[in-house]
Amino acid sequence: MTRLAGKSALITGAARGIGLAFARAYAVEGARVALADIDVAGVRKSAQDIGTSAMAVGMDVTRQDSIDAALAETIAVFGRIDILINSAAVFTAAPITGITRGDYARTFEINVAGTLFTMQAVARHMIDAGIKGRIINMASQAGRRGEPLVAIYCATKAAVISLTQSAGLNLIRHGINVNAISPGVVDGEHWDGVDAFFAKYENKAPGQKKAETGAAVPFGRMGRPEDLTGMAVFLASDDARYIVAQTYNVDGGQWMS
Ligand SMILES: NC(=O)c1ccc[n+]([C@@H]2O[C@H](COP(=O)([O-])OP(=O)(O)OC[C@H]3O[C@@H](n4cnc5c(N)ncnc54)[C@H](O)[C@@H]3O)[C@@H](O)[C@H]2O)c1
Repeated sequence: MTRLAGKSALITGAARGIGLAFARAYAVEGARVALADIDVAGVRKSAQDIGTSAMAVGMDVTRQDSIDAALAETIAVFGRIDILINSAAVFTAAPITGITRGDYARTFEINVAGTLFTMQAVARHMIDAGIKGRIINMASQAGRRGEPLVAIYCATKAAVISLTQSAGLNLIRHGINVNAISPGVVDGEHWDGVDAFFAKYENKAPGQKKAETGAAVPFGRMGRPEDLTGMAVFLASDDARYIVAQTYNVDGGQWMS
């Protein structure tokens, strides 16, 4: 299928995991994809694996000069950016009494400021070029409720949902649709990190939290990055033209449970 034929997409956090799955799916749908990540070696390999429709871009979403350079590089090669996916993020966990200012600042800088200022830069490009674009932010079920050990990450994802609402309402006047996807638990290196935090704070054996969490998902297992690609393609497609400022759960029923 070629639902995104002729479109150019910039995807942050695309060296691995969900961002990479989105890049693969977009390429299959006919889009050209710029895979951007702070992991330069990883993102080069991922882009190479996709093939000629993909390019790799080194990008640190916490630095404005890096955001600007990544956009310039993408536009120099593709000519334009029609779709942005903000997938770059980090996870952290600690009890409230153990939270440090350094961890708070770093996580907010990547997950919130990174999302906001990448969205801002791409929106400016779209407006200047008259592009009726699409922006998709990666939220989380963690943004819809608190969790005892996950205060900072939950707060960053609540902020992403809020930014999606405000940006969606502001940018639709320029024909730019901003929406978000809220996954539940998706297997991969991100969740290996989550599992390690719970092993530390809840004295669980390595892999135990992951197994328990997967078993509790109504669908019967953890998500896979490929379980989310349908929503990412849909939100970028013309079929989603009237959808504005929404955050969609794609979580095997986890939020409802
Ligand atoms: N995996 C899950 O269970 C899950 C659940 C809910 C939401 N999410 C969200 O979905 C998105 C993707 O998750 P994932 O599982 O693919 O995570 P991941 O950890 O596998 O990938 C995140 C990517 O972001 C990159 N990154 C980190 N800091 C960066 C920076 N400063 N600049 C640029 N890139 C940077 C990393 O190098 C990595 O490649 C994230 O926003 C995450 O919060 C994931």
